[in-house]
Amino acid sequence: MAYDVVVIGSGPGGYVCAIKSAQLGLKTAIVEKNSTLGGTCLNIGCIPSKALLHASAVFHEAEHSHATLGVDVGKPKLDLNKMMAHKDGTVKANVDGVAFLMKKNKVDVLTGTGTVLGEGKLSVKGPDGKVQEVETKNIVIATGSDVAGIPGVDVEFDEKIIVSSTGALELPKVPKNLVVVGGGVIGLELGSVWQRLGANVTVIEYLDTILGGMDQDISKQFKKMLEKQGMVFKTGAKVTGIKKGKTGAEVSFEPAKGGDTEIASADIVLVATGRKPYTQDLGLENAGVVLDGQGRVDINEHWMTSIPGIYAIGDVVTGPMLAHKAEDEGMAVAELMAGQKGHVNFDVIPSVVYTEPEVASIGKTEEELKKAGIEYTSGKFPFSANGRARAMLATDGFVKVLADKKTDRVLGAHIVGKGAGDLIHEIAVIMEFGGSSEDLARTCHAHPTMSEAVREAALATAFGKPLHM
Ligand code: NAI
Repeated sequence: MAYDVVVIGSGPGGYVCAIKSAQLGLKTAIVEKNSTLGGTCLNIGCIPSKALLHASAVFHEAEHSHATLGVDVGKPKLDLNKMMAHKDGTVKANVDGVAFLMKKNKVDVLTGTGTVLGEGKLSVKGPDGKVQEVETKNIVIATGSDVAGIPGVDVEFDEKIIVSSTGALELPKVPKNLVVVGGGVIGLELGSVWQRLGANVTVIEYLDTILGGMDQDISKQFKKMLEKQGMVFKTGAKVTGIKKGKTGAEVSFEPAKGGDTEIASADIVLVATGRKPYTQDLGLENAGVVLDGQGRVDINEHWMTSIPGIYAIGDVVTGPMLAHKAEDEGMAVAELMAGQKGHVNFDVIPSVVYTEPEVASIGKTEEELKKAGIEYTSGKFPFSANGRARAMLATDGFVKVLADKKTDRVLGAHIVGKGAGDLIHEIAVIMEFGGSSEDLARTCHAHPTMSEAVREAALATAFGKPLHM
């Protein structure tokens, strides 16, 4: 049967592209080699990690702050099996939801490994080994990414002692000592989960700061907050080897600038040093699809690869490896394939670290503005001066808004604090509409809300001072 669109990969990029294509009247199929839909994000990434982040935060909060609120529950008892069951149930509800959406939108699900044969043609090898050839006007490669490992270090992931994010979501008991290699998003999110449940967590990070690329003000403050929670950091330290023993592992690291080797002992080591585009088994070389210098599928501004009618989106192409970026690309490509205009504004893609408190960022950092020689104004407001934050014992953190000095157009915003991942979106909307910090400052905000801190930061940007400080 001939399709208009066949999407390879059913993660957030792929399944959104399939739904949108079908909604636009294109006959669509989706190819997935796993038995469940949803890709890394739904099965072993965003969704299960958020279930554990929430559950572990509730556990931690029960022990540490509810008594202050007059809710003394005593020492909470951890039932890890139940917590894992909550995580598994959340995953199941989400992957079943995607299967339902495929049916609802009449998208055919072809279970198997997709291989591109050339323009308009691909094969799907099913779990029974049978291969079927499929004809289609358009192919969308949405195969995502895989764990990268540590450059130059032989890492043998057994997902029991030396784990990637996948194994870190499945630990059968709380480790006594967890060493995390990489102070990026995955390391800090999953490190937080196990720390809240009682593990001693040491993060070894190559750079001098955590969350490299984030606004430095935020990164510094956030590190202090995590240290207060008990996380130990070895920054400016390069991991050079991981030796597995019977019950644990030893991680060797040295100063990034060179120096003596130190050893950290752990019963579990989480390696979270980035991800790489997943282009395996796709037959791209044979089909003539060109990769860029970094192993990503090379695309033009319309996500088209070197072969007409073959597109690529999400982690397998350039840009931040974020589910929502992939989703937006999926929608845009569907629109383009249907003959409409498809567009993604890469200047306005929020990024959130779902720790407690959360970190959220959008647009340019101060460092990027300085580097680009753009003159800017900056306004900051701490949650400690926000009434709602006080009432919720959530006074840690601040909002920072950056705007163009001449035009006042908002160029970026950075938040560390409770619910930062939700607060960032009003700034996303302002930025999408080309709004100014004065627009944000003059927008009435309900009282008392954490969002008032966003407004106060905008007041500080637009008029030099906030009201409540
Ligand atoms: P990352 O790129 O965010 O962080 C990896 C860190 O490892 C870097 O800071 C790097 O300097 C460090 N590193 C590399 N080699 C090292 C060595 N030998 N010794 C010590 N440190 C070393 O990668 P991560 O955390 O694995 O995440 C992968 C991708 O998944 C990212 O693109 C991220 O955006 C995405 N992701 C996003 C989430 C979110 O938006 N909340 C959640 C989870 C993942």
